[in-house]
Amino acid sequence: KDSYDVMLLPGDGIGPEITAATVNALEPLQSLFKLNFKEALIGGAAIDAEGSPWPDSTLALAKASDSILLAAIGGPKWDGNPRELRPETGLLAMRSQLGLFANLRPAKVMKELVDASSLKPEIVEGVDIMVVRELTGDVYFGTPKGIDELPSGERVGYNNMIYHEHEVERIAKVAYDVAMKRGKRLCSVDKANVLDVSQLWRDVVIKMSEDYPEVELTHQYVDNAAMQLIRWPKQFDVMVTGNIFGDILSDEASMLVGSLGMLPSASMGNPDGPGVFEPCHGSAPDIAGQDKANPLAMILSAAMMLRYDLGRPAEADMVEAAVDVVMDKGYATNDIQREGTTAVGCKEMGDKVKEELAKLVAAG
Ligand code: NAD
Ligand code: IPM
Ligand code: MN
Repeated sequence: KDSYDVMLLPGDGIGPEITAATVNALEPLQSLFKLNFKEALIGGAAIDAEGSPWPDSTLALAKASDSILLAAIGGPKWDGNPRELRPETGLLAMRSQLGLFANLRPAKVMKELVDASSLKPEIVEGVDIMVVRELTGDVYFGTPKGIDELPSGERVGYNNMIYHEHEVERIAKVAYDVAMKRGKRLCSVDKANVLDVSQLWRDVVIKMSEDYPEVELTHQYVDNAAMQLIRWPKQFDVMVTGNIFGDILSDEASMLVGSLGMLPSASMGNPDGPGVFEPCHGSAPDIAGQDKANPLAMILSAAMMLRYDLGRPAEADMVEAAVDVVMDKGYATNDIQREGTTAVGCKEMGDKVKEELAKLVAAG
């Protein structure tokens, strides 16, 4: 195959800026194969234009696409909306309707960025963690949920933290398979000392270890895991955890890498449908529209798309190598500035990656 339909979801806040920078950066690949980008609406932009954060037209185009590249959604403009008219609701609907239960969030420290981390160099140097986050279950989707008013007039808010056995099995399988291709060490993170749902999680993960005798399985409670991640992150190879714990721990892991603006992700689960590739960060309303955003999380997400969804591992390597060279030359957006770097904006960062990628493509 040498032509791919890729749906682009720029979304809100810095989304359009990092999307433009990413499309620009990938341009040199167009001489090798065609990436046919088609833009669609999600999040706040979709609410404003169509009255829904996940319009039917977007779902239809998604299903007809080979893959999906998403920037970010959300912003203060929509925070007061009822739940069904929140940007975040669109994102969750997308994940659920496309069957994207497996979210891979790699936190790999580039040597150039060791000084950009808020932790000591000897702590972060060489860190290479893959967080496998379950993405379509847990307290995010559990019912019952809501805010009710009691007869007394007091209000009560609730969500249900729930996992079915088959949901734990399939995410654990992904994690074990990832571990087999990496360092063969898997740490499952839960709160089994308190939560029944976590006890089930742990039981299932342990049972599955029989199928993976080569993988060394450990368990940590999530509070300890949060501490261990910044105490000695090199103890981790693959971490597997539920939706909400994974959300929190992956943002934490981003500071090992230097910035949330560097952390890509891949959301998969349905081999017959498109995956979604998106930065771990949000729409960064505080810097939106100022050409300050770091586009590298989205560019590195595009690399994950090439590798995991489009069957183009060589080109994925090229994109990652191009980013590496740009870092090596000392170009940095605000979030990753450190001694001796040259400040660039979002657009210029895209240009720099494009320049290096063009050289790598030309060299074959
Ligand atoms: P955020 O990730 O948008 O921003 C947190 C901080 O990191 C901010 O200071 C921001 O400027 C900075 N940051 C994030 N991405 C950056 C980048 N690429 N370059 C430079 N700096 C970057 O989180 P938030 O402020 O808690 O949330 C803002 C909105 O984004 C909310 O509406 C939230 O729901 C939404 N959100 C969306 C997604 C998504 O689309 N997948 C993820 C997280 C949050
Ligand atoms: C993420 C975000 C989303 C999540 C929000 C915006 C719904 O924080 O992709 O990490 O919690 O999954
Ligand atoms: Mn998050």
